[in-house]
Amino acid sequence: MKKIGLLFGMEQSFPPAVVEEINSRDALVAAEFVQIGAVTLDELFEYDVILDRISQDVPYYRAMLKLAALNGVRVVNNPFWWSADDKFFNYALAQKVGIPVPNTALLPSKQHPPDTTSESFRNLIYPLNWQEIFDYVGFPAWMKPFDGGGWKHVYKVHTIDEFFEKYSETSNIVMTLQESIEFTEYYRCYCIGKKYVHIMPYEPRNPHHTRYDASFAPSPEMTRYLTELCIKICTMLGYDFNTIEFAVRDGIPYAIDYMNPAPDAERSSVRDDNFRWVVEKTATFLIELAHEGRAVPAGYTWSAMMNASKGTS
Ligand SMILES: Nc1ncnc2c1ncn2[C@@H]1O[C@H](COP(=O)(O)OP(=O)(O)O)[C@@H](O)[C@H]1O
Ligand SMILES: [Mg+2]
Repeated sequence: MKKIGLLFGMEQSFPPAVVEEINSRDALVAAEFVQIGAVTLDELFEYDVILDRISQDVPYYRAMLKLAALNGVRVVNNPFWWSADDKFFNYALAQKVGIPVPNTALLPSKQHPPDTTSESFRNLIYPLNWQEIFDYVGFPAWMKPFDGGGWKHVYKVHTIDEFFEKYSETSNIVMTLQESIEFTEYYRCYCIGKKYVHIMPYEPRNPHHTRYDASFAPSPEMTRYLTELCIKICTMLGYDFNTIEFAVRDGIPYAIDYMNPAPDAERSSVRDDNFRWVVEKTATFLIELAHEGRAVPAGYTWSAMMNASKGTS
């Protein structure tokens, strides 16, 4: 019997629905909520697969999941890459491979990080050449954390004065300043297992409860292109569960937000049909992984050492 564990926080509907879906499908695979206490180096873990929905908020779980991965548990999403990744790097990587992204600049934090002084910043040219940044990004622009989520500290700014006013509220958070894509269509897409894609028309300018009431829908060509981009982005970043947001201007979909390794999947926010899709495809993918079985993640420098030590034992 293979075992899949769900690790989650305040979510209400998605984790139990996935457990129920898996348990209704395949007699050789069972799912349950992860139970974990203190962890020692000898912990072997009883799960073949763990779906992680919460380690971004619980560092204890992130550390535990790295040990689980070392023991071959298939952790979705990869805890190592999730820890290393940030949105600014994502924009840079996407641009390098030819995916349309808005012009984006990385800004030093307004305030010094804890336990630093101006002496810690001897290498930083300050004041910055702000005009160069404004010319590159243009106005209106979005200022948002280089590594954040949930619309926290996201500001739309229209003028230089407004930029500096908002920037002064950002304390020691490292921000990006990004060209605003004044869009005619916007899509939020689930991508699971780097192959299952679900494109949801999404109107971020509406109040929260009506954001999935959009007045546009993707053409067949747009559907094909977005599907291709979602798979490319998730393959490149190594995420097995992610949402990718695109803002479409003049027919071009710009990738806006694609570092969402624990994306919102609550029934009340995504609505019944989207919820059904994400529950079913998550179950399908986790069952596929469970059947593939345990495997230590490849692609780390320590993976080669592990194989070498196996050979000599
Ligand atoms: N460059 C942009 N052009 C247009 N709208 C943007 C841009 N950046 C952010 N937004 C708007 O702000 C929202 C939140 O920004 P996003 O990058 O998705 O951050 P978060 O990870 O917090 O969701 C987006 O859903 C979108 O509506
Ligand atoms: Mg977003």
